[in-house]
Amino acid sequence: MTRRLRGHHAQRAVARLGAVALALALTRSHAFVLGVEASEECARVEPVDPFDLDAYVEAEWYVAAQKPTSYQPTRDLFCVRANYTVVDERTISIWNTANRDGVDGSPRNADGRFKLRGLIEDPNMPSKIAVGMRFLPRFLYGPYWVVATDVSPGDAEFDERGYSWAIISGGQPTISRGNGLCEPSGGLWLFVRDPEVSEEVVSKMKEKCESLGIDPDVLIPVTQEGCSFPTLP
Ligand SMILES: *[C@@H]1O[C@H](CO)[C@@H](O)[C@H](O)[C@H]1NC(C)=O
Repeated sequence: MTRRLRGHHAQRAVARLGAVALALALTRSHAFVLGVEASEECARVEPVDPFDLDAYVEAEWYVAAQKPTSYQPTRDLFCVRANYTVVDERTISIWNTANRDGVDGSPRNADGRFKLRGLIEDPNMPSKIAVGMRFLPRFLYGPYWVVATDVSPGDAEFDERGYSWAIISGGQPTISRGNGLCEPSGGLWLFVRDPEVSEEVVSKMKEKCESLGIDPDVLIPVTQEGCSFPTLP
């Protein structure tokens, strides 16, 4: 390849990265504008407190249902699993896996080469996390708030078995659904420890969403039955 061509490629790559960063920045400022506009219509949601990060990351989470996101489109909503590793008190490493177009479809990120990073702004509030790609600056990260769990530190059941489900919202819900409920501009996830969780538990989680003012109708069920899950070598 000639030097000029190489230069041209590099220039195009830089232009592409710039476009991605700009698109992300616009999405975020748009969400901010929406947040200001919609804050009166949407119930205020807070990350859970107290919250035990070590108990939260002690085992893999399976997604029972979720709102699709740019990096988790509907066709990838099979066998979705998240695994977290605490790096330090402000950082977690995130390994998400899934299958595309079916439980036997092509595995997404099974080799774990693509890791997201979670940043905890305030170690006293570890349920409030910002998630993004490792090479991007913090202001481009999206909010990831644990807004409900089945049990809390201090409960006898929590001491016995830790968390068995959690609801994650991509920040404060800002978009009114016109039915008195709202959705976050980011994702919404129902996390369970047991990939074969009962419909009853999922219904309970959806009711919890409603009680927080979040519309569970934005959730798409994730198939977990018949999945084989990857392990890191
Ligand atoms: C998930 O991460 C933990 C470390 O936090 C690790 O011990 C465990 O093996 C991982 N799970 C899988 C399936 O690799």
